[in-house]
Amino acid sequence: MANHILLLALLAFTCSVAFSFEPSPLQDFCIADTTSSARVNGMVCKDAKMAQANDFFFTGLHLTGNTSNSLGSKVTPANVVQIPGLNTLGISLARIDYASWGINPPHTHPRASEILTVLEGTLFVGFVTSNPENRLISKVLNKGDVFVFPVGLIHFQRNVGHGNAVALATLSSQNPGVITIANAVFGSNLPIASEVLAKAFQVDKYMVDRLQAQF
Ligand SMILES: *[C@@H]1O[C@H](CO)[C@@H](O)[C@H](O)[C@H]1NC(C)=O
Repeated sequence: MANHILLLALLAFTCSVAFSFEPSPLQDFCIADTTSSARVNGMVCKDAKMAQANDFFFTGLHLTGNTSNSLGSKVTPANVVQIPGLNTLGISLARIDYASWGINPPHTHPRASEILTVLEGTLFVGFVTSNPENRLISKVLNKGDVFVFPVGLIHFQRNVGHGNAVALATLSSQNPGVITIANAVFGSNLPIASEVLAKAFQVDKYMVDRLQAQF
C-alpha cells in the first residue's frame, strides 16, 4: 500500500515536471498548414508526404534592412511565418540592422529566450530583471560577441559604434512573439485610459496624451 502511494506520488511529480515544458515534437516535422482553419495550440501540420525543401527554406538574411525610420533599426524575421517547416521545432532567427545611433526599442518575447550575435559594429545591450529589483544588466558588445536575453524580460539594443551595425538574433520558439513596450502601453487599440497611465507613470494627463499621440 505504502509502495503504491509512493509510486503514485512519483508518477504525479514526473507528469507535472513533463507538463511544465513545451512538449517535444511527436513526428519528424510538422510543416505549418497556413490554409487550415483548425484551431490548435500552434499551427496544424500539412501532410508530411507533401513536404518540399522550400518548406524548410528562407532567403534574404544577407540583405541589409531599411533603417530609414524613427528608431533607426529594422528587424528581418525568419520564424514560422516565413519558414513553415519551423512549426513545433522551438527555434527561429532574426536579422537586425541598426543605423548610426539606431535602437531596437525596449520589448519582450513572451515565448522565447534570445541569444544575440553581433555580426558588424558595436551595440550597447541590456535587459531588466523582474520586480522588485528591476536591475538593468547591460554590456557593450563588439563583432563576434554574444549576449542572452532570458525569456519574457524587457530588453533593448542601441548602436553605439561608428557606422551601421548588424546582429543575428536566435530565439527559442518558432513563434516568439514581440511586445514593444511603448507601442503596447501608449499605442494600444483601444487606448488605455490616460488616468490609468498618468498614475502608473507618475506624470500628468497631458504628458500621457502627448505620448499616446506619438502612436
Ligand atoms: C526605406 O524606407 C523609407 C521610408 O519608408 C523609404 O522612403 C525608402 O524609399 C526606403 N529605401 C529603400 C532603399 O527601399
